[in-house]
Amino acid sequence: MKKDITITPVSGLRGTLTVPGDKSISHRAVMLASLSEGVTEIEGFLDGADCRSTIDCFAKMGVVVEKDGDILRVHGKGLYGLTKPSDTLYTGNSGTTTRIISGILAGQNFSSRLTGDASIEKRPMKRIIEPLRMMGADIISERGNDCAPLVLQKSALKGISYRSPVSSAQVKSCIMFAGLYADSMTTVTEPALSRDHTERMMRAFGAKIVTGIDAEKRPCASVEPAPRFSGGHVIVPSDISSAAYFIVAGLIVPHSEIMLKNVNTNPTRAGIIEVLKRMGADLRLENERVVSGEPVADIVVRSSELNATEIDGNEIPTLIDELPVIAVAAAFANGRTVIRDAAELKVKESNRIESVSKNLSAMGADVTPTDDGLIIQGGSLLHGAEIATYHDHRIAMSFAVAGLLASGDTTFDDTDCVAVSYPSFFDDIASISI
Ligand code: S3P
Repeated sequence: MKKDITITPVSGLRGTLTVPGDKSISHRAVMLASLSEGVTEIEGFLDGADCRSTIDCFAKMGVVVEKDGDILRVHGKGLYGLTKPSDTLYTGNSGTTTRIISGILAGQNFSSRLTGDASIEKRPMKRIIEPLRMMGADIISERGNDCAPLVLQKSALKGISYRSPVSSAQVKSCIMFAGLYADSMTTVTEPALSRDHTERMMRAFGAKIVTGIDAEKRPCASVEPAPRFSGGHVIVPSDISSAAYFIVAGLIVPHSEIMLKNVNTNPTRAGIIEVLKRMGADLRLENERVVSGEPVADIVVRSSELNATEIDGNEIPTLIDELPVIAVAAAFANGRTVIRDAAELKVKESNRIESVSKNLSAMGADVTPTDDGLIIQGGSLLHGAEIATYHDHRIAMSFAVAGLLASGDTTFDDTDCVAVSYPSFFDDIASISI
């Protein structure tokens, strides 16, 4: 639990950065590569704690993963080739690993047990337990509290049509991965479209995936069982959720210009770009292209005067992980920003409605937490504070950004937590600070 980092105001941020690989895409690449026949090379893989948890789980089921410079080489076992782990699968702090791998485990012909750290053991798993049981899975929450540890026994799965009450890519992906082992097609619908990396990557690996809008106008994704996945080469773009800290920092700190290279701009992830543009950001996408089935661009930001906005409805799933740093931007903007329909913030690595509002208040901002979001009256002069990170990587990084403009020192009760998604975050801030 490192605490020795202090952020002080800077006179500008200038330079070009390539932030680490996308966390969601890195997880899925290891999962699909493990279930493929042959070797898959993954370029740009995020070497962070969460994705290492995914590798560790598959290694315990017989998958060999080698690191060769910037390339991760996964020796796949095929859809039916995983072997029974001799030990509990440990997912660390990673909700994505825990939820998606449960869908894969539900389809295996062996039993398994999985759990993670203290935060994972508090996060809701009923959202995957219920649909997996509808498919015929034998999955229980060991302590009967609908959280991990989870125990799965061998069972036959049937295809279902599941109407998810939440827009969650982890839930959607869990069911789609289980659907690979079902006896017929599996369909998931959700209230608003969540990130679609699973749909894109499963299709690229050879699954039959149909996506669209159902009769109720809900986004839906269907997967046919028993594809033959063949490995290949995956290039992981930079994570927009990591770029987000520098995008906001470059906008709010005067005399700044930052270029962020190779950022994933998938529309199901890029809500922050639309919101910041609406707030008046000088933000440009350059060199737009498609890499491994995902839209990618270089993003250039320059210091801008920001104005308040309202964020709600279908936009929320497209920027759910960026809301803490958007809240920081709102604290420096003119006017009253309202974030609604974001109750999912309460079940992330921390309760982010609470962790954002407490830390913004500690820095002198005018913020009101609500049941499903935040109201932020921008324009107060912020001062440094000791940030309570709740061991949540996104809280530590968001408030480091606030500290670049707040007066005095900003310190943290823990900075190790950034290793989950962005181990070199503080070095990268230092490298562009002037
Ligand atoms: C993720 C989905 C989101 C996001 C998380 C990563 C994924 O969670 O918050 O950081 O990779 O599928 P939910 O699906 O629970 O919204």
